[in-house]
Amino acid sequence: MAPFIPTTHGRLPPLKYFKDILPESNQESLPIIPQLLGKDGNDFREIANFIHDELGYQEINWNIGCPSPTVTSRGRGAGILRYPDRVASFLEAACTGLRCRLSIKMRLGSDRDDDYLELVDSLRQYPIAEITIHPRTGRQQYEGQADIERFADLKARLGHPVAYNGDIRTAAQGSDICARFCDLSSLMIGRGAVTNPWLPAAIVGGWSELEECNLPALARFHDDLYESYCATMEGGAGPILGKMKEVWGYWATWAPDVKGILKSRNLGEYEDQTNKVLRGNLQESARAFFTSSHPAGSSKYE
Ligand SMILES: Cc1cc2nc3c(=O)[nH]c(=O)nc-3n(C[C@H](O)[C@H](O)[C@H](O)COP(=O)(O)O)c2cc1C
Repeated sequence: MAPFIPTTHGRLPPLKYFKDILPESNQESLPIIPQLLGKDGNDFREIANFIHDELGYQEINWNIGCPSPTVTSRGRGAGILRYPDRVASFLEAACTGLRCRLSIKMRLGSDRDDDYLELVDSLRQYPIAEITIHPRTGRQQYEGQADIERFADLKARLGHPVAYNGDIRTAAQGSDICARFCDLSSLMIGRGAVTNPWLPAAIVGGWSELEECNLPALARFHDDLYESYCATMEGGAGPILGKMKEVWGYWATWAPDVKGILKSRNLGEYEDQTNKVLRGNLQESARAFFTSSHPAGSSKYE
């Protein structure tokens, strides 16, 4: 799923928002589902139809899971989940004349972990291609734990294909979810997959443990990401450094010392610091992380 595009009333969002989903930018990528964030079903339908007609996408996702207070305070993202009437009228407007499939990414509720009970009737009226559930409330943001029992309850009430999302950090956790909910349409992994790029492959491949930590592959993964940002991001070094430092925030789990990277002020400093870490004394800490409770993969990233 691509990062969300905010809907705009009565017109298309600025073109910069479409950059990430242009087909020519994604020729070698996994299949992408564009995602819209908004509260007006008519706006959603118009923009979704534009993305379908002009860019060729067959499915558009509606984000009603974003917990950011700047989003929820305007009744968008997870902020709409406390208003069953608004969800119902959104769906009616969005689905009338929609030329592509609709899928949804949602949380359990805005403030309450049972807000969803009031939404199920509306959701069941529409042939939604897939509903991805992150079983927390918007208010929780990322606090506490994903509530698997609430997930099970909501899933059982929906007749749609359902995907699970939340707190999968190890291959064992992913396998456990798949074993308990054997008819899941998919698993969505966020932070765990950024921290450990091999995690999805480890779950699919049933690897219990990585025999050897493949540092050159990690370095290549980093270099690919960095080079792609350098080639595509507008606005100079600042946004590139911002994106890469965000990733290193996750990689601090297995990299011994990322302070120098996080303090780098320009791309030259960044490259020096990452070289020190990725081609330096990384072996022990990365090996400990990837070969213990966090199975990764030997050299799947070739
Ligand atoms: C930095 C960041 C950006 C995110 N952006 C989106 C987004 O654009 N659309 C979306 O549906 N979810 C987004 N999410 C939420 C994730 O898809 C996911 O629901 C959340 O991280 C919980 O899953 P996890 O425990 O596997 O990380 C984002 C999460 C993070 C941490």
